[in-house]
Amino acid sequence: NFTSTAFVEDCIADLQNQLQDDKVVLGLSGGVDSTVAAVLLHKAIGKNLYCIFVNNGLLRKNEFENVLEQYKHMGLNVKGVDASQRFYEALAGESDPEKKRKIIGRVFIEVFDDEAHQIENVKWLAQGTIYPDVIESVSVKGPSATIKSHHNVGGLPDFMKLKVVEPLRMLFKDEVRRVGKTLDIDDELLGRHPFPGPGLAIRILGDITPEKVQLLQEVDAIFINGLKEHNLYDSVWQAGAILLPVNSVGVMGDERTYEKVVALRSVSSTDGMTADWVHLPYEFLIKISNEIINKVKGVNRVVYDISSKPPATIEWE
Ligand code: XMP
Repeated sequence: NFTSTAFVEDCIADLQNQLQDDKVVLGLSGGVDSTVAAVLLHKAIGKNLYCIFVNNGLLRKNEFENVLEQYKHMGLNVKGVDASQRFYEALAGESDPEKKRKIIGRVFIEVFDDEAHQIENVKWLAQGTIYPDVIESVSVKGPSATIKSHHNVGGLPDFMKLKVVEPLRMLFKDEVRRVGKTLDIDDELLGRHPFPGPGLAIRILGDITPEKVQLLQEVDAIFINGLKEHNLYDSVWQAGAILLPVNSVGVMGDERTYEKVVALRSVSSTDGMTADWVHLPYEFLIKISNEIINKVKGVNRVVYDISSKPPATIEWE
């Protein structure tokens, strides 16, 4: 029987005991878990918590700026690091899904390590690990797999030699949300859909270019904002758009077009292990499809993914 107020009190006291006057570094992702972990730590040790939020250039439209602003409003000591170019350069020409994940994992570790080095005398690495991450890696394609494979390659990056503190490691997702609510974290932030660490890179089938990212960000924003405007966002577990590596023929005025196809995906799920596609209202799909084709240059066709997991997965890569 979980009481979030009691958890918050005990957890803050425990963290203060454990960490004393030590400095702690934490990577914020914009997601629920790392945010709740950061706010708990901030309440416990204040300015000794150093948060780092990396823009890998693969986030949603305006997400880096918006979420960074939100974090600052919450009083967190956060440094935003725009490493987009570094990620794009490392990803250039790579089409293989697992290789893209590995590159993103590696560059993230490099960027984070550089930043952690700039905090003098830091002793701890905080992580927003939750119970399901502890008992099993939720997804075989998940970031922990990336980090593990990196381990095998050579020495550990310096920040991984730090002592680890994981205040949420005994909690389930719904409990994390309740703790977040007790901590007065914005409902909008707590209700955010899951978003994969490699971001839009695994929703752009084939190689990544900044132009493709920008195009997909526009499509995704129309879809996600539409879900919010039509009060559908909260009834969906996860949603997003996928840029397909094919062109299709279309017609605009008297002109033949030959442009990109995007797929929309929205699923219901409880843990991501299984998922059903959501029966979004036709009226909504019609509106979103028209808006995408009218507003996003280079797209002339929208399809809706009606596959369940298994045998399909939520992401296309
Ligand atoms: P799949 O595609 O395996 O996705 O059905 C299940 C859940 O995991 C997320 N996902 C990832 N998250 N790194 C992550 O942090 C990854 O490489 C990754 N791959 C998939 C996916 O968005 C869904 O929530």
